[in-house]
Amino acid sequence: MTTETPEGSLQVTDTRTGLRYELPIFDGAVRAMDLRQVKASDDDFGLLSYDPALVNTATCRSTITYIDGERGILRYRGYPIEQLAEEASFLQVAYLLLNGELPDKAEAEHWAEDVTHHTFVHENIKKFIDGFHHDAHPMGILVSTVAALSTFYPGAKDVFDKESRRVQVVRLVAKMPTLAAFAYRHAMGLPYAYPDDVLSYAGNFLNMMWKTTKLEYKPDPVLEHALDVLFILHADHEQNCSAHTMRTVGSSHADPYVATSAAASALYGPLHGGANEQVLRMLTEIGSVEHIPEYVERVKAGEFRLMGFGHRVYKNFDPRAQIIKQVADQVFEVTGRNHLLDIALELEKVALGDEYFVSHRLYPNVDFYSGIIYQAMGFPVEMFPVLFAIGRTPGWLAQWEEGLLDPEQKITRPRQLYVGHPERDLDSDTPSTGK
Ligand code: ACO
Repeated sequence: MTTETPEGSLQVTDTRTGLRYELPIFDGAVRAMDLRQVKASDDDFGLLSYDPALVNTATCRSTITYIDGERGILRYRGYPIEQLAEEASFLQVAYLLLNGELPDKAEAEHWAEDVTHHTFVHENIKKFIDGFHHDAHPMGILVSTVAALSTFYPGAKDVFDKESRRVQVVRLVAKMPTLAAFAYRHAMGLPYAYPDDVLSYAGNFLNMMWKTTKLEYKPDPVLEHALDVLFILHADHEQNCSAHTMRTVGSSHADPYVATSAAASALYGPLHGGANEQVLRMLTEIGSVEHIPEYVERVKAGEFRLMGFGHRVYKNFDPRAQIIKQVADQVFEVTGRNHLLDIALELEKVALGDEYFVSHRLYPNVDFYSGIIYQAMGFPVEMFPVLFAIGRTPGWLAQWEEGLLDPEQKITRPRQLYVGHPERDLDSDTPSTGK
């Protein structure tokens, strides 16, 4: 329970009984449990709040990520995303999310060294991946192998041991790119490329993805930096579907490998991590800038949605989309211009000047440009959610640990409104039970 004094109260009258209640307000919220005292009769269980998909329910108090959707603000531990993308590396941002503060020089070196030394996976993991069919989706392989890591590190079950938690966090941040790259190499029928500990986090991932016959792989510095920024932009986004899954699984005190696997499964869905793939398909379908007006008219007629536009939280702009546009320019200078970018830029221009999109407050979101960048860098569309999962892992782990250590948290167990049959008996009219 919070010890803060309430900032005010909500006075309500239950018209069923005429009784009045005063519900304290903390941090702009009333506590759902305070509704339990509201009863229509002595044997009434008490009033519930009904909130499918938890659209207006805060499920935790958090100090990790702040979003103001009206003003297009995203901050990790108080730092604006624009400054972090400009000044920090992904590993520094991961440290910030996990520890609450940016690392100093010595801490940053130690953390990078720690992560680098844990990038290898047990050789048996390769055998495990070998068992997947040649056309297995890399996200399916990632979800399964992350869960399988749980069996390699049984000590991870000791979730209330601080040192054990620290080690598992390092392992997960370090091994996700290795599992992701191995999943890709398996699908391509290529030999696995081992981590190279002289490279940066993003550089090493590119090495494990693309290394061929040369002894040393040298990542292009522009692409390495672009990938690092993309990881930063995806590192956390407060209580979204996958973060909530991470907390929910963690609330049963399951180990962080299976919890991360569950979070990655939530991300796999097209409504969450799969939108950038849909953007790419849409731009390909549009085919050329001349077809944009007709396509936009069809969107306005309600035939389908403009993928990569709109957001549940951001209603003026998505700050990540603005940073990504700059990254796109840098990437295309190296890879050459992808004609889909011209379609995307024109589509954005047309939509932002159109009354329908303006009145519905629809702006490009993070996924509008990320897919085009990934494609230009050579990643197949199946890898898009995998890349998202690598970037999001520190955020999931920060959410997991915060939930685990929060004295107000318990095992997640929502209520329901039962709307099925009242009690009834089996009788002669009931279809045969087979007995
Ligand atoms: N294209 C056209 N119209 C849209 C779009 C869109 N992309 N998004 C919303 N609308 C319209 C809806 O038709 C609705 O119109 P109406 O009020 O006239 O019926 C109105 O805007 C509100 O739509 P909702 O679905 O209620 O908005 P919600 O906040 O629930 O949806 C969402 C947010 C799911 C992101 C939605 O905008 C969408 O489907 N966008 C396309 C998919 C996408 O890009 N997803 C990635 C999100 S970012 C991420 O997950 C990392």
